Amino acid sequence: AGPAAPLKDLVPAPFGATAMTGQLDDPAWREAVLRHCSQLTPEWEQKMERTLGPGFAHDFSASDRVVAFARDHGLRVHGHTVIWYSQGSEVFTDDLPRDRFAAEYDRYIHALVGRYRGRMAGWDVVNEPVTEDGNGLRDCHWSRALGPEGYMVRAFQQAKAADPDAVLFLNEYNLENIPAKGATFLRLVERLLTLGAPIDGIGTQSHLNIEIPAGRVRDFFRDSASLGLPIHVSELDFPMQRDGGHLPDLRSTAERRAQQVARVGELAEAFAALPERQRYAFTTWGLRDPDSWLVRAEGRNRTDESALLLDAEARPNPAYQALVDAF
Ligand code: XIL
Repeated sequence: AGPAAPLKDLVPAPFGATAMTGQLDDPAWREAVLRHCSQLTPEWEQKMERTLGPGFAHDFSASDRVVAFARDHGLRVHGHTVIWYSQGSEVFTDDLPRDRFAAEYDRYIHALVGRYRGRMAGWDVVNEPVTEDGNGLRDCHWSRALGPEGYMVRAFQQAKAADPDAVLFLNEYNLENIPAKGATFLRLVERLLTLGAPIDGIGTQSHLNIEIPAGRVRDFFRDSASLGLPIHVSELDFPMQRDGGHLPDLRSTAERRAQQVARVGELAEAFAALPERQRYAFTTWGLRDPDSWLVRAEGRNRTDESALLLDAEARPNPAYQALVDAF
């Protein structure tokens, strides 16, 4: 088969993938991204591990490179991520006086989001606020300093002030895989809206567990669509295996492949069923299999992840056909 037809023409919304500064000068990566993508998400260049140093020093140089690459090639940029439980605690420490913490919190948000004012399609303003089991809100340095809901309301309000044009998202994973987490997340969005958080959109990461039964993906999209907000499939991938380097022996590869393709098809159909104004973008976390964060994780079997739509040569993986059928 020849090269895959461009995903940006197949998907009924901007089609995105991640970008890292180390990929920008790779000819094969550039060729595939410019053929398939209409949007990019910096994979880590806008995270605090890269942008925030001791003494609240800001360094957005890597972010600037990804944003400039996108601008130079006419691609939209989705910002990821402003406030995340997983990073920033070395600088935003628990022993900081609250007023200093809050002042630096606001300053950081204005520095990052305001830097690209008017040039970003949207931002993941808060990432992964719900507990792993889906039954509550994460305890983290942000919640301890500014309140479990307060830090989120504040982040959205500051981001909106910094860039009124960007679509502001609350972003989370396992919303399809774990129905309780999806329900908690949607209740949280509604709660934060009543508290005055200017949340404009819902980001579902969609790191799919292909072992889930049919219907969970459809049900989550039905429930999330009812909020009436734009939805971003923000980090789609669908590894053939779970948690470590071995395919569970309870199913043949062919059976798991069929499950994988079925779940991706269910998600594509659910996304396509959304009203156009609720289809913000459809992003995979990596474009080609070798670009996947999953192949960088320790101890994974690199040969059969096929967790993305394109293989190492940017040819269609089996799941690509599920999009063709759905869209
Ligand atoms: C991941 C990156 O892909 C890795 O390179 C990095 O080491 C850790 O973070 N959910 C998210 C993303 O919102 O920011 C994470 O990205 C993957 C899970």
